[in-house]
This record gives sequence, structure tokens and C-alpha cells, in this order.
Amino acid sequence: PVLVVDFGAQYAQLIARRVREASVYSEIVPHTITAAEVAAKNPVGIVLSGGPSSVYEEGAPALDPGILELGVPTLGICYGFQVMARQLGGEVAQTGRREYGSTAAQVTTEPAGPGSGNALLAGQPADQTVWMSHGDSVSRAPEGFEVLASTADTPVAAFANDEKKFYGVQWHPEVKHSPYGQAVIENFLHRAAGIPADWNAGNVIAEQVERIRAQVGTGRVLSALSGGVDSAVSTALVHEAVGDQLVAVFVDHGLLRKGEREQVEQDYVATTGVRLITVDARETFLNALAGVSDPEQKRKIIGREFIRAFEKVQAELVAEAAAEGEPMRFLVQGTLYPDVVESGGGTGTANIKSHHNVGGLPEDLEFELIEPLRTLFKDEVRAIGRELGLPEAIVGRQPFPGPGLGIRIVGEVTADRLEILREADAIARAELTAAGLDGQIWQCPVVLLADVRSVGVQGDGRTYGHPIVLRPVSSEDAMTADWTRLPYEVLAKISNRITNEVREVNRVVLDVTSKPPGTIEWE
Ligand code: XMP
Repeated sequence: PVLVVDFGAQYAQLIARRVREASVYSEIVPHTITAAEVAAKNPVGIVLSGGPSSVYEEGAPALDPGILELGVPTLGICYGFQVMARQLGGEVAQTGRREYGSTAAQVTTEPAGPGSGNALLAGQPADQTVWMSHGDSVSRAPEGFEVLASTADTPVAAFANDEKKFYGVQWHPEVKHSPYGQAVIENFLHRAAGIPADWNAGNVIAEQVERIRAQVGTGRVLSALSGGVDSAVSTALVHEAVGDQLVAVFVDHGLLRKGEREQVEQDYVATTGVRLITVDARETFLNALAGVSDPEQKRKIIGREFIRAFEKVQAELVAEAAAEGEPMRFLVQGTLYPDVVESGGGTGTANIKSHHNVGGLPEDLEFELIEPLRTLFKDEVRAIGRELGLPEAIVGRQPFPGPGLGIRIVGEVTADRLEILREADAIARAELTAAGLDGQIWQCPVVLLADVRSVGVQGDGRTYGHPIVLRPVSSEDAMTADWTRLPYEVLAKISNRITNEVREVNRVVLDVTSKPPGTIEWE
């Protein structure tokens, strides 16, 4: 792999994704990693990420100097660039000037072909815009390094030592605000370090299928489908590996959106051939939710009922497998790479604990986990799903909370209200898709304010109905979000259709709150 050394900012994941977009497999490692640990991973390249610190700060994250003696091609970015400069004998100065945002940079060397140091900036204009965010600056490049670029405030903005295959840039090539950023990363990987571009969805599938087969042998595997992307793709991948040794369970809690159950039961099964058991728990959930309007209580009830429903069918399937002489020993989990990185890395599989991807599975299951997506980012999971031929309606699906529509009805959840919300949500989704806006929004919760009524006039008469809230948001990771400026015509169309086609709704309102302060969901 290419190792991305994380110096503690948000940038490492972004860098890892950009490396993969260049068709090279990457892994994130903490900056505390030792040279021996790095060597054991056999990296073909190393990228040192940016970070929030100054190299002068007490306790500033450092790098085991041995890492730069392993003979591995290395690219330093921002803070990583400065760490590299210092460790190799250059100088970093505290200029007291902070360079932040879009900055004009000048390439100060002749662009050259492969094998030359300035291959890093090959094919790029001499004047370009780069995204900067730093206080300290490299004031002198280490011995043997060529300075490749500068800005008004930063004389050494990029450098290279082609013999050692060491490269560095002060700016952030991983952000889209650096228009030639991806080219810097690709030049480092392909031209300077000579790493082939051969990592893709097809290879990942082949590799995972082999791993899963080795892990599972002839054992039986259980999987819970939620209707979401991660569980759909992980289940399909495991099915590809072990076929009918896998059985999938889908709990219909009645809080799904329109058409979701059919998509799983028909389209998904038709394309994958997965053996699927649907548990119809709609009644149970509705009964358990009767009279409850407190959001946290609703969430708890839905979580609890989900576990009950799952445990019941699980016990039956475990018994069935045991009777057939092949115990059910494995459980599929759709854990993604960001979860793994954020919970401190970790390798191998552990017994189930904190990852609750499907509405919260029981904590004390005696299963060994299969997590075929734990090295992947969401967009890569989608690519694999497409490669496996899964329906676009599932692969392209936006995030949807485990508790489903239950937390999008403000007030008590009833069958009637769910029906109203399902219709309104289906209209909003259809119109957003028709307008080609799916790619621009992260998700668009549609919320029913069931305890609010307002006066309207529909047809010839006065109405006293409920408002529907549209909550379109743009986000990178759901931690922060902004409300999406949807075109007025699209909003008008959605509003018209909902108030005309959905009974009891006489008003559509738009949520124009960012996160923070508002969360994405209303409950
Ligand atoms: P909030 O409302 O906290 O949502 O801003 C952030 C993201 O998480 C989703 N979400 C959930 N996903 N189980 C999930 O799997 C949940 O209980 C849950 N609650 C919120 C939400 O849709 C958004 O994408």
C-alpha cells in the first residue's frame, strides 16, 4: 500500500481517498508508527499529511526518523512537508505570517519528464492557484533538494530530491481548491515513485472473495440487510464468495420509505440470488411506539424492537444450521474505513461490539465478524456495488437513519401518519432525481410535523392540515452540513405536488438551518 501518515487533522482521510482515486491502494497510519512497523507493511510510497500543529510546539507530533531511511518514496504535505524539511536538515521558520486560502504559486523549475525531481509538477502551468493553510514555513530546503515552487510569502513552497525520491508541497493538493492538486498526487505516485495504477473495484472484489472463502470455509453466515448501501454491498460480496452458505435477514419495521422493501425483496434478490428472509414486524413496532412522542424514547424503542425481531429469527436460523451439521458461526457487518480509522485503527476481526450499522444489532452475539468493507470509503463501496450489478436504486441511495421514518414524524408515530410521510417523501425524492440534483445533495430528510396544524384553503374549502418540512443538506461526512440552495422551480414543483397529492398536508416549508446548530434529522 501507500501509507498516509496522519498528523492529526481532517486531511488524512481525504489524502487516502485521492490516492485511491489515482487507482493506488492506500492506508492511514498514525504518526506514532515506528520505522519497523512501516517496513512490515511493505509500502510502495508514503504520504505525510498536514496537521494542526507547529513543528515548534511542545509535543508537536513527530515522525520516527528511521521512516525516512527506509528508501520508500515519500511525499510531504503542509505539516508533513515541514517535518520532512526539518528531519532532513533544512530549516523551518516561524514567520508569524499565516498564509490561508487560495494563493498564487509560481513553479520555479523547468517542468521535466519522468525520473526528474520536478516531475512532481510536470504538465502544470508555471502560474497556478494552490490552497494554503499554514503558519510556519520552510525557509531553507535540505541539502540535495531542489526548490520547485514559491509564493509571495513562502520562498520554498515545494521541493524534491529525485535521487532519494523525496518530495514535498506546502499547499494542500488533496483539496479541490488546488486545481492541479490531484495531478501533484498522481505525478508523485505514477511518475516519481513509479507505482502502477492498478487498484480498482474488480480487484477488490476478487481479493475479498478469496479472503472471505478462506475465513469462512464451509461455515454458515448470517447477514442483516437494512436496505442501505453498506449492508447491501457487504452481503452481496459475501454471497459472491460463499453462495448459499449465506442467509440474509431483513426486518421490515414499517418505518421504511416507499418502495424500499420491494427493492430489497425483488430487485436485490433478483440480481444477487441471495437467500432472503423478511421479518414482517410492522405491527410490533407500531404497538411499541403507540403513545410515544419523545425522540430519544422512540429511538430506544425502535432499537430494542429491532434487536428482539432479529434475535428471534437468528435463533431459528442458528438452530436450522446446527440441525444440518454446519453451525452458523459468522455475521456480516458493513463497517466502513472511516469507522475503523475513527475508532483508532485496529486490524483483524474482533467479536461484535460497537458498530451498529443496522439499527443496532445485539451486543452479545457469539459470532465471528466478516467485514469486507472495512478498508473502503463510501464512494468505493458504491463502485463495488455497481461492479456486482446491484440495482442503482440501492447503490445510489442517500444515507437513511436506522430508526427510519420513526424519527421524521415529530409527534407520535401512527400507521396513518407514516402513510402521509411516505407519500410526501416519495414525491420529494422523485422530483429531486428528475431534476438531476441527487449528486448535489447529501440527503434530504422529509419531515412531518404531526402535532402542528395550520389553516389552508384547498379546493373551495378551509383546511386545517399539517406541514411537511424539506431538509435538503450538503455535507462531506454528516458531521457538519449546510442547507442546499435548491432551485426555486424544483422547490415549487415539490410543494405543489405534495399539497395536491398528499391528504392532510396543506403547507410545505424549507429548513434553512446549517449543522451546527441544527442536526440533519429533526429528532
Ligand atoms: P444528525 O441528525 O445527527 O444525523 O445530524 C447525521 C447523519 O446520521 C444519520 N442518522 C442515523 N443513522 N442510525 C443511523 O444509521 C441512526 O440512528 C441515525 N440518526 C441519524 C442522519 O440521517 C445523517 O445522515
